[in-house]
Amino acid sequence: MGLRSEAWFDNPADPGMTALYLERYMNWGLTREELQSGKPIIGIAQTGSDLTPCNRHHLQLADRTREGIREAGGIAIEFPVHPIQETGKRPTAALDRNLAYLGLVETLYGYPIDGVVLTTGCDKTTPACLMAAATVDIPAIVLSGGPMLNGWFNGERTGSGTIVWKARELLAAGEIDDAGFMELVASSAPSPGHCNTMGTASTMNALAEALGMSLPGCAAIPAPHRDRARMAYRTGLRIVEMVREDLKPSDILTREAFENAIVVSSAIGGSTNAPIHIGAIARHIGVDLPLEDWQRLGYAVPLLVDLQPAGKYLGEEFHRAGGVPAVVHELMRHGLVHEDAPTVNGRTLGENCRDAEAGDRDVIRTFDTALTEDAGFLVLKGNLFDAAIMKSSVISPEFRRRYLAGGVFEGTAVVFDGPEDYHARIDDPDLGVDEHSLLVMRGTGPLGYPGSAEVVNMRPPAELIKRGVHELPCLGDGRQSGTSGSPSILNASPEAAAGGGLAVLRTGDRVRIDLGAGTADVLIPDEGSPCGTRSWRRRAATRCPSRRPRGRRSSGRWSTSSATAWCCARPWPTSGSRRP
Ligand code: FES
Ligand code: MG
Repeated sequence: MGLRSEAWFDNPADPGMTALYLERYMNWGLTREELQSGKPIIGIAQTGSDLTPCNRHHLQLADRTREGIREAGGIAIEFPVHPIQETGKRPTAALDRNLAYLGLVETLYGYPIDGVVLTTGCDKTTPACLMAAATVDIPAIVLSGGPMLNGWFNGERTGSGTIVWKARELLAAGEIDDAGFMELVASSAPSPGHCNTMGTASTMNALAEALGMSLPGCAAIPAPHRDRARMAYRTGLRIVEMVREDLKPSDILTREAFENAIVVSSAIGGSTNAPIHIGAIARHIGVDLPLEDWQRLGYAVPLLVDLQPAGKYLGEEFHRAGGVPAVVHELMRHGLVHEDAPTVNGRTLGENCRDAEAGDRDVIRTFDTALTEDAGFLVLKGNLFDAAIMKSSVISPEFRRRYLAGGVFEGTAVVFDGPEDYHARIDDPDLGVDEHSLLVMRGTGPLGYPGSAEVVNMRPPAELIKRGVHELPCLGDGRQSGTSGSPSILNASPEAAAGGGLAVLRTGDRVRIDLGAGTADVLIPDEGSPCGTRSWRRRAATRCPSRRPRGRRSSGRWSTSSATAWCCARPWPTSGSRRP
């Protein structure tokens, strides 16, 4: 089979253009002999930069990747990917996933690249890369950047993101001051690498491996570890062989591979952002993966990995205990994995993981010693939304005991229009938040924010925290950081800005959530039915929250006025199939 790059560098039918392409790629020292030798041109899609600290060490790892590529007989060409850094990008990095995806598609499609090493790490760099590989469908392999070393403070592990939510509570309760807050949070980031908790970054890299798109063991190796550089070298070696074998994403990203990813996601306590990103990758390779599959295939899987935010350990222990192969090994023993799913190394997932017994049973558990039964996502629906997701692995026993008698929670809604509104009012005593409240944030979905931001992380008011109430149930049409451990119903769709039911919710409304039935409904009194006529009247009288006007920002954040802007030339529908 001829190489794709020959259309540029060795095309006898078009010597004029061949010369044009060749001369420029020779200008930094490549020779015509190399470029016309039949050696595969291997792209290194570089997501690391000073702007993306989580992936920055890929700039050094690329040297080792190049050595592998060269040794296997390929030619490496490194190029930048649009930077995405989850916590640094204002107002949200969500739109950048698609921007990076589009840029990478154009790069892979429009240049002489036969195969590509996808350098991944920070949350959205991984799905952006995989979506592009799925679209262009040339041989592609993931090289994860790996997590930071464990954070420590006063003898306790401090995990990325998770410690931020904890520190906010301590600050609100007056137990630390601003300087203490800073010190505590900074302790969680002691080295290069991505978040060391099972947040979205660790989740997405683990799932890339479970999908078969990286070499076995790749996801969990901490960024500074020597094994990481070895993995870079081996990844470079392997991509050249993949080009020769014409092993493409479409050969690997099958329906079975996605089902494996769902099961692994539950077992590791994966982020609620996983369904969004995995669904997008599936869509780009042409695999149908409805949200319901996450509950159907994943809910009953137990939590096997003891990592924050659902557990106590961090990335170093996960790697030492065996990482993703050890988790897959455990799932295989219970017949939950499609073992014959192909992977990038030419072997099946089952072959890769058959002997990968966990090295530390405290960190990667057996089914008998699992941290939680039924650790997957619940997909809820009702008169507030058609679909929303809840991560059951982070519902604490304390929360279950306190609020979830029989899996039912009934509480009073306290509604915020976006994060600015929440931050401005949460400690206002007049708000009347108590331990039976449900904190609701709306206007934070893909249209409303815009971009669906990770902002539905809501601590209780300081006064409640001081009384020992550290978590309240949350509900929102935005997302939440995968590092958050709060019991939350997220990604409610349709969102308020698109006509979803959250827009009609008012502070003081009673909301009933039935986890067993998979429902969440506002109880509008006096019709006896949550979808009675009164709710329709309220909807007709409600103006829908507008999308925030892009470009009207104050110092990088949306101003309060734009955050709570209401449009609306568009009236609410007063008839139709969807319930209010
Ligand atoms: Fe980049 Fe968590 S913020 S990995
Ligand atoms: Mg995140």
